[in-house]
Amino acid sequence: MDKWVFLNGEFVPSEQAHVHIYDHGFLYGDGAFEGIRAYNGRAFKLKEHIERLYNSLKALWIEMPYGPEQFCANVEELLRRNEVKDGYIRVTVTRGVALGLDPRNITTPPTVVISTDKLSLYPKSMYENGLDVVTVATRVANPQVLEPRIKSLGKYLCNVQAKIEANQVGAGEGLMLTEDGYVAECTGDNIFYAKGGVVYTPPAYLGILEGITRRTAMDLLEGMGISVVEKIFTRFDLYTADEAFLTGTAAEVVPMVKLDDRRIGDGKPGPITKKLEKAFRDYIESGDW
Ligand SMILES: Cc1ncc(COP(=O)(O)O)c(C=O)c1O
Repeated sequence: MDKWVFLNGEFVPSEQAHVHIYDHGFLYGDGAFEGIRAYNGRAFKLKEHIERLYNSLKALWIEMPYGPEQFCANVEELLRRNEVKDGYIRVTVTRGVALGLDPRNITTPPTVVISTDKLSLYPKSMYENGLDVVTVATRVANPQVLEPRIKSLGKYLCNVQAKIEANQVGAGEGLMLTEDGYVAECTGDNIFYAKGGVVYTPPAYLGILEGITRRTAMDLLEGMGISVVEKIFTRFDLYTADEAFLTGTAAEVVPMVKLDDRRIGDGKPGPITKKLEKAFRDYIESGDW
């Protein structure tokens, strides 16, 4: 963790940044969060991330005492104070402090924490050779129970379970399905495949997080004249795809070359994936975001 942390309206030294043991996030997973990348001293797609955060909070009935512009300014000020060039920004907001799950017991404003850190990068080989992915037993939450478009703390218990399952078999990522067995997403990434020159990805309403990198990838692909279609599909479509890739804040764009021990295409990162990886890199470097 870097030197300064934004905690409940103040910039405090990280060793003094403590959250109450009865914080509702800690007790019940009652809150929302964002993970944002900083490139060259600037937060990538900050407005979009904070908009998603405020949408999560709105859906959870957590009322922020100030608006998204002020929130963005706090993130930017923290980047300056911590002299972050390239790194990771973690934003967490919880409902506040009280024992007992009834929110009427909470008399504090929401707990707000912003911290910055180094981003532990995936090994270079992962981008060169692609990821070996395995389908895990843990399903994504049913939207009727827990809306996955809310980036809620509690929802990530499923993702942690799924990651453990993938780790247990030494896979690079775990593919999570919906209750009905449709392809949803990986533990921290959205999924795409290409077939016959067209790129496919599951629609957000199926039960996935509407990734900011997913949107960026879709825009970049469309900009290169490659159609992207949102549709519901099964693992069969991935097994028989020409190529596949994942997108996410941490992973950016990463090829996926194997699923459940079946090679996807020729088992190497495909041409559309490589084109997209380059376009993504150029886009980051352009600073025009
Ligand atoms: C479950 C899940 N899906 C997809 C993503 C990718 O979203 P983004 O591109 O906004 O990081 C993430 C990462 O936050 C995630 O946790």
